[in-house]
Amino acid sequence: MGAESSLTSTTWESETIREFFANTSIHKGLDPKDRYQMTAPEFISRKEQGKPISMITCYDSWSAAIIAETDMDCILVGDSASMVMHGYESTIHATIEMMAAHTAAVRRGAPHAFIIGDMPFLSNRISRDIVLQNVRQLMQAGANAVKIEGAKGNLDSISHIVDSGVPVMGHLGLTPQAVNQFGGYRVQGKEEQARRVLINEALQLEKAGCFAIVLECVPAALGEEIAESLIIPIIGIGAGNGVDGQVLVLQDMLGMGTGKDPKFVRRYLEGAKLIREALNQYHQDVTTKTFPSKKESYA
Ligand code: KIV
Repeated sequence: MGAESSLTSTTWESETIREFFANTSIHKGLDPKDRYQMTAPEFISRKEQGKPISMITCYDSWSAAIIAETDMDCILVGDSASMVMHGYESTIHATIEMMAAHTAAVRRGAPHAFIIGDMPFLSNRISRDIVLQNVRQLMQAGANAVKIEGAKGNLDSISHIVDSGVPVMGHLGLTPQAVNQFGGYRVQGKEEQARRVLINEALQLEKAGCFAIVLECVPAALGEEIAESLIIPIIGIGAGNGVDGQVLVLQDMLGMGTGKDPKFVRRYLEGAKLIREALNQYHQDVTTKTFPSKKESYA
């Protein structure tokens, strides 16, 4: 039976998944100092230990270098890069070349981080060969895993990628690449039927071999229910506090945006305000000729 046609996950299947990850650690036998801080199997161990996972988006080398000096568990090179870095109105404009370039930049800034590269719009829906070529581009650019949006029609492809040795992170709920189908950025899984579909899709992704799932914009109770039903961790963004970890867009949590934040964003810094103040101070120093000083000039 193909992964595509199965709707439930049994205890036996869960055990198989656990065993699979336990036996495929690429760092087995290595001295702890030579290990990456995070690995795909480690995601599942962290859930077993009840230790929440922190994930942050990043698209460039200098931010990656800063993140590399923090306690963050992993970095997502999200296709939100097309909006945040390139100014497009949706993630539909991200391409595999764009994502590979951002992934490579992040890898240069954070040589030892666990990096997940986002498969952009439709890049995983073409022929099997081209899907693998796209996966290869992200992995050779420096990703440790890839993320794929949606379950329907993706399960066989995900199993094939996993069988080919590449860890896959799923993404359910408000999957932004499907914004046109949703008719906007709306909370998902509110009605009973939609709730059941999401739970089933999460189980299907686990069965297909995903090591974790991003769950975006769903009611908190549903986030918790899905997290409790699965062995693999659920990384929430607008999915409440009952999941196994959280992800935010770096620029959102640093307050770099100029518009209204989504409800689920917590700002840890007023970045845009601080940057504006710094630029205005610099402008003033230049125009009043107080910059550069003697100390900032060559003799
Ligand atoms: O592209 C992205 O940044 C994402 C996160 C919002 C989860 O998919």
